[in-house]
Amino acid sequence: MRPLLKWAGGKRRLVEKILGLLPRSDERSYHEPFVGGGAVFFNLEPTRSSINDINHRLMNFYRVVRDSPDELIEVASQYRYEKEEYYERRSRFNEMPEDPVEDAGLLLYLNKTGYNGLYRVNSKGLFNVPFGRYKDPRIVNVEMIHHASRLLRGVNIVNTDFGYILNEAEAGDQCYLDPPYVPVSKTASFVDYSVGGFKETDQERLRDICVRLDEMDVTFVQSNSDTELIKSLYKDTGFNIIPLRTSRLISSKVSSRASGYEVLITNSQV
Ligand SMILES: C[S@@+](CC[C@H](N)C(=O)[O-])C[C@H]1O[C@@H](n2cnc3c(N)ncnc32)[C@H](O)[C@@H]1O
Repeated sequence: MRPLLKWAGGKRRLVEKILGLLPRSDERSYHEPFVGGGAVFFNLEPTRSSINDINHRLMNFYRVVRDSPDELIEVASQYRYEKEEYYERRSRFNEMPEDPVEDAGLLLYLNKTGYNGLYRVNSKGLFNVPFGRYKDPRIVNVEMIHHASRLLRGVNIVNTDFGYILNEAEAGDQCYLDPPYVPVSKTASFVDYSVGGFKETDQERLRDICVRLDEMDVTFVQSNSDTELIKSLYKDTGFNIIPLRTSRLISSKVSSRASGYEVLITNSQV
């Protein structure tokens, strides 16, 4: 199925390539430590799985879809696509509602009606995406929510750092890792930059985790940008680095769609 939410860095266009490296098998568990909109997860529809993201509002949303789909549909169906209402609902979302269903309903609404479906917060953690211009956007897709709910039934929904994967994955399992990318720039080297809170040290940690997964006999595919940093981090690992020519939406402005290179890093033998 298609993802329930739009998400920056969504991988819909790379799904076929990624799945080609992860042979289908009901005996293996599938894990996605940076799930975001979950384009690969929803396309694969795995029977045994874990999904994780550091964004707790997002993981609450998936838990509510799994456990309370009808309540979510009821709540979100009351919301209308209208500018004034958008800003009221956005303020309510920023009050951090205690009711998980209300929180999930608001996230769904803001995702479908906010500018470009972005999820962006300011330094105080407040969601600050402006109203988006759409032609009659569909906020609640009842069939998709029910389908996703069934799909998520057997799924371990985790909300922590991606390092959880070392405790979760077992020999023979499969894993797709889609971290926030290293920015593509001429100066991208071993300097201490940070993007969206994901630092160079996190990229190093991720490399070490891939090495460990390989030792544990877990098949992994990771996507990242084709930069000097990534090349130097992986040069001694023996992993397969597959270059891809793609364009990636890196910001809300069409003019800044980076047309460049991405890589898939994998230990898959396929
Ligand atoms: C490129 S997006 C994933 C997009 C996803 N593949 C899709 O199809 O929509 C990266 C995700 O990593 C999450 N993230 C950032 N730092 C993380 C961390 N330390 N541990 C787990 N997730 C993290 C972000 O919240 C974001 O949703």
